[in-house]
Amino acid sequence: RPRVLSGIQPTSGSFHLGNYLGAVRQWVDLQEANDAFYMVVDLHAITVEQDPATLRENTRISTAQLLGAGLDPERCTLFVQSHVPEHAQLGWVMNCLTGFGEAARMTQFKDKSAKQGNDRTSVGLFTYPILQIADILLYQADAVPVGEDQRQHLELTRDLAERFNTRYAPTFTMPKPYILKETAKILDLQDPTAKMSKSASSAKGLVNLLDDPKASAKKFKSAVTDTGIVVSYDEEGKAGVSNLLRIHSALSGQSIDQLVAHFEGRMYGALKTELAELFTDWVTPFQKRTQGFLEDPAELDRVLAVGAEKARAVASETLASVYDRIGFLKPA
Ligand code: TYM
Repeated sequence: RPRVLSGIQPTSGSFHLGNYLGAVRQWVDLQEANDAFYMVVDLHAITVEQDPATLRENTRISTAQLLGAGLDPERCTLFVQSHVPEHAQLGWVMNCLTGFGEAARMTQFKDKSAKQGNDRTSVGLFTYPILQIADILLYQADAVPVGEDQRQHLELTRDLAERFNTRYAPTFTMPKPYILKETAKILDLQDPTAKMSKSASSAKGLVNLLDDPKASAKKFKSAVTDTGIVVSYDEEGKAGVSNLLRIHSALSGQSIDQLVAHFEGRMYGALKTELAELFTDWVTPFQKRTQGFLEDPAELDRVLAVGAEKARAVASETLASVYDRIGFLKPA
């Protein structure tokens, strides 16, 4: 079975709709036919300052949401990144193989550090993609389900896999990004030129999965569209409407063409109202399931302990051959 791996940050407690449609939904599908490894990336989270109690709490909340979304620990390996020390260990090796200029070209770093300013930007934020490379290569992943914003990190991962394999010996599987065009970039509901993100300028553009569904319904109903009246798909000219159509299509299973036909003769308000209902119908049972998992933290921790053990079995094998190939003396 092909190996699949991905990760998500526990940073803000609730996942948002972009995280779900761009990544987590695919994780759930892919656990059926693949050997799937999914993790909550707490090491990545501390690249920006975290309150310790909140980070711990958010790691459990993230795990509960992944289970609530449909991950099944019987079908996949679900774990927390810091429980598997090999991530940090291979991360160091990869740091030493990555060029400074190469890392400096990562657009996500450039964006985030520009927002924070140099003095508040950690070196960890700079090497963030290199830790991600270690995450992926440790598991010999064939495919990595992510949103469009991770494509550049995946390209760097492939470069580094290739570099290690040629410099030493074939060691790493070449991972491919698994990015679904329709949901790869869910846009901010207030600013359809930007992706939906937890650092959105207005909270009205961001749909958090754990927020009151009524508040989210309101956000759909007040989504920014354009001054036209015909519901049609046009990513350039009608970015807002097209985003709503893509979200509708992902949640309802209807194609964009079917939806355009369905809304013929009706205006944007009809699309927004229907989308608000569709989202509420999905998110309400999702929240109930997530809450159920959160009520039993001991069980959550048990699931994560089993996951960490399965993950370590794979990760330690890869790290051992890497250490050997780069010339580290084996401890007697
Ligand atoms: P993170 O936590 O920022 O986001 C988790 C996933 O959600 C996707 N995503 C989106 N997809 C569509 N539209 C959006 N508006 C949107 N916003 C976020 C992201 O692309 C991601 O797939 N660096 C990663 C975490 C990571 C990782 C890994 C991923 C660490 N190690 C190894 C894959 C493999 C990140 O920050 O994701």
